[in-house]
Amino acid sequence: MESNIKSKKFRAANLAMQFIEDGMCIGLGTGSTANEFILLLSLAIKNGMNIKCVATSKKTEDYASILGIPIFELDEIKVLDVTIDGADEFDEQMNLIKGGGGALLREKIVASVSKSYVIITDDSKKSINLNTFPLPIEIIKFSPKTTMLKIKSSLIGAGINVDIQLRKNDNGSIFVSDGGNFIVDCACDFIKDPVGVESLIRSINGVIESGLFVGMADKIVVAHENTIEIIEK
Ligand code: A5P
Repeated sequence: MESNIKSKKFRAANLAMQFIEDGMCIGLGTGSTANEFILLLSLAIKNGMNIKCVATSKKTEDYASILGIPIFELDEIKVLDVTIDGADEFDEQMNLIKGGGGALLREKIVASVSKSYVIITDDSKKSINLNTFPLPIEIIKFSPKTTMLKIKSSLIGAGINVDIQLRKNDNGSIFVSDGGNFIVDCACDFIKDPVGVESLIRSINGVIESGLFVGMADKIVVAHENTIEIIEK
């Protein structure tokens, strides 16, 4: 089962290589699927491909650097030709839940300056109501309980039942993002109106960014058991 999922991740990543051309500026996502792509990209670089990359997290930056991939600050590059990233959940309308790896803020910034935003994923992450993976929301460190209460009451007000947890590390300490913020994970019973929920969450004081990526993906590469599907705008 484990190797089956790994194979799906690899096949999605491998297909995404067809969107990469010599001389491009590329955004690198975060997570195990993105890492499959990063490994393939490093092989292309060893074979002479000339590219510049921007990482969506410290973890990705470290991994890519070890593999010899040239990493630049986003401020140096400004606009990216393509970003290849993973997702925690997606629906047929190409809405995404991201942030399982804690990188949602940088991921969204990088996606927003990418001419093409390609998600590589597998069929286990497809859903109808975006209610499988708890929605990550990045919040400021100041008074997290107050912000969590506001998020809860706003979502309940929108008719969504939700259980909210402050993200912790395995050792019980509070998880801190690369940006120095906290993340709360919101298990919602459904998200029927992603556009409305996204704007509702972002209007709450104390919220920095939500892991709902609405209308951002240009392509979602979905690896199935024996085939690969590309969902496009
Ligand atoms: C990182 O913050 C997330 O948005 C990742 O894209 C997500 O967790 C996907 O990770 P996997 O590819 O490991 O499932």
